[in-house]
Order: sequence, then C-alpha cells, then structure tokens
Amino acid sequence: MVRSGSQIRPGDTARAACIRGLGHYLPTDTITNHDLESLVKTDDAWITSRTGIRTRHRAAATQATSDLAIVAARRALDDAGLDANELDMIVLATATPDSPVPATASLVQDALGARRAGAMDLNAGCSGFLYGLHTANALVMSDAARHVLLIGSETLTRVTDYEDRRTCILFGDGAGACVVSGEGPLQVRYSGVGCDGSEADLITIASGGSRSPASKETVEAREHFLRLDGGRVFRQAVRHMVQAGQDALDATGLTPADIAWVIPHQANERILSAVGEQIGVDVPKIVIDVAETGNTSSASVPIALDRARATGCISAGQHIMLLAFGAGLTWACQILRVRESN
Ligand code: UT7
Repeated sequence: MVRSGSQIRPGDTARAACIRGLGHYLPTDTITNHDLESLVKTDDAWITSRTGIRTRHRAAATQATSDLAIVAARRALDDAGLDANELDMIVLATATPDSPVPATASLVQDALGARRAGAMDLNAGCSGFLYGLHTANALVMSDAARHVLLIGSETLTRVTDYEDRRTCILFGDGAGACVVSGEGPLQVRYSGVGCDGSEADLITIASGGSRSPASKETVEAREHFLRLDGGRVFRQAVRHMVQAGQDALDATGLTPADIAWVIPHQANERILSAVGEQIGVDVPKIVIDVAETGNTSSASVPIALDRARATGCISAGQHIMLLAFGAGLTWACQILRVRESN
C-alpha cells in the first residue's frame, strides 16, 4: 500500500524543479560524548555503539535558530549565484523557532534583504526540510515562484533536557539551506510525503502551546523539553522510511541498484543501516553523517547533502534518494537526478 499520500512524479507536469545552490552552517561549540558523561549517567562506548554519535554542535548563547539559518541561506544563495532580491519565497522548516510569533522566516527575510519574497515557517519535525522541498518543488513547477529559498534550521539544544540520558545524547544544532529554481544541478524527479497523526505522542514537547501554556508548574515539571519514546520511534522510523523509499522506487520505476546515494535524516546509525538493508541499498551507499553532528532534525538532510557534495562523491547521471522521518509522525522521500551540467 502506498503510504506517501501527496506525491509529485515525473510526468505530472512538464516542468521539474531543481536545487540550484546549497549551503550549511554548524556552530563552532561542540558537546562531545565525554562532556555528556559529566552531566548524566552514560558513557562514550554506550552512545557510540547505540547511536553512532560522537559529538554534536551547540549554538552560542547569543545565537537563535534564525542566526544559524541566515548563515546557511547566504551560503546557498552564493552557491546558486543569486541575489536575495531575486527570491520569491522563503520556506523555513523548524521545530525550534526563535519564538512562537513571529515566524522565524520573517526574521531571515529581513536579514537577507529579500524584499520581494513571501516567508513562512513549516513544522513537520525532522521531515521538515523534505516537506519544504515538496512545497518549493510544487511552487516552482506551478510557476507560482521562480526562486524559493528553503532552509532547515534548528537549535535543539534549547529544548533538550540535560538531565534525561535517553534524549540528551541525541541532539545537536545546525542549519542547511538550498535554492529551488527551474534550473540547477540537482533535479527533483520524485517527491512524496506522508503522516500518521495517531502516533503523534511518540515525540512531543508537552507545554508551551495552547493545550498547556507555559507556567511555573510546567517549567518545574520540565515539560518545555522534548520527550521521545526511543524504542517505538526507532521501529516506526525504519518502517516508514522503508515504505517511503519503496513508494518512490515504484513511482519512478527505478530499482535500488539505480540509487547512487541515500541521504537520510541523521537520527541514529543503526536506524539508517536497517533502512538501507530493507530497501535493498548497500550500506556503503547510505550517507551516514551522524557521528559529528548528532540529530539536527530538519537541518540534517541538507547538511549531509552539502557535506557529501564537498567530498566529490556526487557526479552527473546519479540518482540520490533523500529520506526523512520525524515528529507527527511524518515521513518524506525525494529522488534527485544529478544533471550533466553539475
Ligand atoms: O529524529 C527522530 C527522533 N528520534 C529518533 O530517531 C530516536 C530513535 N531512537 C533511538 O535512537 C534509540 O531508541 C535510543 C538511542 C534513544 C535508545 O537506544 P536503545 O537501544 O533503543 O536503548 P533503550 O532505550 O532500549 O535502553 C536500553 C538500556 C536501558 O537500560 P535497562 O532498562 O535495559 O537497564 C536504558 O535505561 O540502556 C539504558 N540507557 C542508557 N544507558 C547509558 C538509555 N539511555 C542511556 C544512555 N547511556 N544515554
């Protein structure tokens, strides 16, 4: 059964959107596994063997999500050879906005001087960047926008409970961005997204919204921090990413052998290996970048894509599968084709 309810397939319209430029930013401060040993009852060997994570980046006290986003966005614009004035739309995927109101995208729009652009935030948890690419792709394909700036930016260390060893080992801060246009080196061949809200309770920040506004009591109960049911999230992450990948292969007629690289949401090395194995893609073709960044939620896929590109492993003619899973529960998959001009 196809579970990715909204799909954009080759042939759906004559035009195909492309990633024209990429950029990312990781703050300089880090939190190593050894640093965590002094905060909670854990050790480097446990964290490395259960997650693959060795260190993660942390935003400076003066940096909010928009600050990270702005650096990544400027790098993506430079890479695309575009001026901010040429942008028609900014989509910022985040679960950790600067504040609930206004949208963090508005602050980015102002800082970049993108005077013509509309701007909005999008929250699909760790699938946010891929949901944003689905949206940007549709805007460009329908001629509603010529150039869309898409950013995934997170300061997860601000919602991480450093007294909870089950979650504090996982998360880091960072931002990744791309410009989506009609032309560019990475063409979006397929895009699909899905959701199962019946399991929304697996990853939550309980308070600070309209259901449970922030109060002295909610803060004392540490309800402003992110909680997750690790084991159940692990199983659902594998299940939904495998299904999303298979939906993409079915829709495009490609086989696992046609996929040069799978670039998944960087949650846990064991999740990523299991996904690759079940889709039928060899583990060396799965980009696993979690060791140095941890889980940066909606920023993880564009950071991993940009870092993979910097190694020179991406070349013309390849198909690249992007995969993500996150709070909601949400999942998403894109297949990119590297064009000859790359
Ligand atoms: O981006 C999407 C959102 N999140 C994720 O994708 C996370 C998905 N889940 C995971 O990555 C894994 O479930 C975790 C890394 C969070 C946990 O790994 P696990 O292999 O599922 O461990 P577990 O929760 O089953 O715990 C096994 C044991 C427990 O001890 P007992 O009950 O067996 O005595 C835990 O208390 O490990 C213990 N434990 C730890 N020990 C040392 C849990 N966290 C730690 C820790 N250090 N940090």
